[in-house]
Amino acid sequence: MKLGYGPAAAGLIAAALIAVAPVGALAESSGRNLALSCFSCHGPAGKSPDTIPGIAGKSKAFIVQEMIGFRDGKRKSTVMQRIGKGYSDAEIRALAGYIAGLK
Ligand code: HEC
Repeated sequence: MKLGYGPAAAGLIAAALIAVAPVGALAESSGRNLALSCFSCHGPAGKSPDTIPGIAGKSKAFIVQEMIGFRDGKRKSTVMQRIGKGYSDAEIRALAGYIAGLK
């Protein structure tokens, strides 16, 4: 057998970890992962050095509202509509929660 039981065991361990992780902790870490792609434009940790508005420390409610507005075409944008379309409501709430916590 080529693969042995290593990957299967790793999968079981991962499943066990997911099963015991509190829901809040999961949302927090996936929020951070989702938000990482925002920083290429909005600056490191959301602090923009340029003309693109910074997003660090904006409230969660503001970020959720603007992201959904961009996505659904209610707020005009150059790029944010396309970007917004990549995220579900739940993902937007998770990443907004993370960004709002940045100083
Ligand atoms: C390709 C560059 C780019 C990426 C990646 C990007 N943005 Fe933006 N963002 C912009 C630009 C440019 C604007 C100004 C509106 C427009 O023209 O689209 C903006 C505007 C915003 C605003 C409104 C800010 C304000 O003060 O009104 C929010 C909130 C925002 N982006 C959140 C995000 C989040 C969250 C992500 C990651 C999921 C993200 N952006 C990824 C370029 C980007």
